Amino acid sequence: MSEFEGLVAVVTGGASGIGLATARLLAARGATAVALDLDPRVEPPVHGIRADVTDDASVRAAVDEVVERFGRLDVLVNNAGVGAQGDVTANPDDEWHRVLDVNVVGMARVARAALPHLRRSPSAAIVNTGSIAAWAGLPQRALYSASKGAVHALTLAMAADYVREGIRVNAVAPGTADTPWVGRLLDSAPDPAAERAALEARQPHGRLVSADEVAGAIAYLAGPLSGSTAGTVLAVDGGMQGL
Ligand code: NAI
Repeated sequence: MSEFEGLVAVVTGGASGIGLATARLLAARGATAVALDLDPRVEPPVHGIRADVTDDASVRAAVDEVVERFGRLDVLVNNAGVGAQGDVTANPDDEWHRVLDVNVVGMARVARAALPHLRRSPSAAIVNTGSIAAWAGLPQRALYSASKGAVHALTLAMAADYVREGIRVNAVAPGTADTPWVGRLLDSAPDPAAERAALEARQPHGRLVSADEVAGAIAYLAGPLSGSTAGTVLAVDGGMQGL
């Protein structure tokens, strides 16, 4: 498949996990794929540019650099995100602001910088990475779940704002995915093997979601085969939603 031939795709958080799998898949399908990340070290064919999604100047400079180097911007995958654990009492205000700044405001910030370029593309699409945490009512994930609920709502609002201009906005909602992030979570657990088994058991299909499976869903929503799809949040969760 080469449905992204000639297109330029930007993936925030594209140097690790779901973002890296997505950038690689889009590149394999013909895109010039650029990872915007705090740590942009990536291997060819993915390109890396440093950006902090909490810093407006950094985001603008990175998007400008993408367009200067590669000539256009067609696909934005708003994927950078950070985790937070605990119930509603666990985190002080500044941590709430920090996580919401990365996970929610960061998506608006990058979209703001990218939209003038997306408007010039005949194949424009934005895909936001939400989470099953927004729907499932997971214990000890109050702040993170709130941030991803905001991502889902933001996706619907952005879809309504831009669909008539030919820019489709959708989201994916992964279940627990096997990425370096979850690896770090397991490493910090008292019994990593038991914790991994508990996370696997939480998925109705009995295993973690793979980063490649999420990347496949993102590529679908970013590409021409989803040309009539806007404002959708696609679960990639092993059947967790609604069970
Ligand atoms: P990861 O930790 O492997 O990768 C996240 C990337 O985002 C890292 O490369 C990191 O440097 C980058 N990043 C973090 N803060 C940034 C900032 N301020 N500016 C630019 N880049 C920044 O994580 P993973 O698991 O690949 O997660 C990616 C997305 O998927 C996140 O939005 C996360 O909330 C979401 N997600 C992950 C799930 C999982 O189980 N791994 C499940 C559901 C959603």
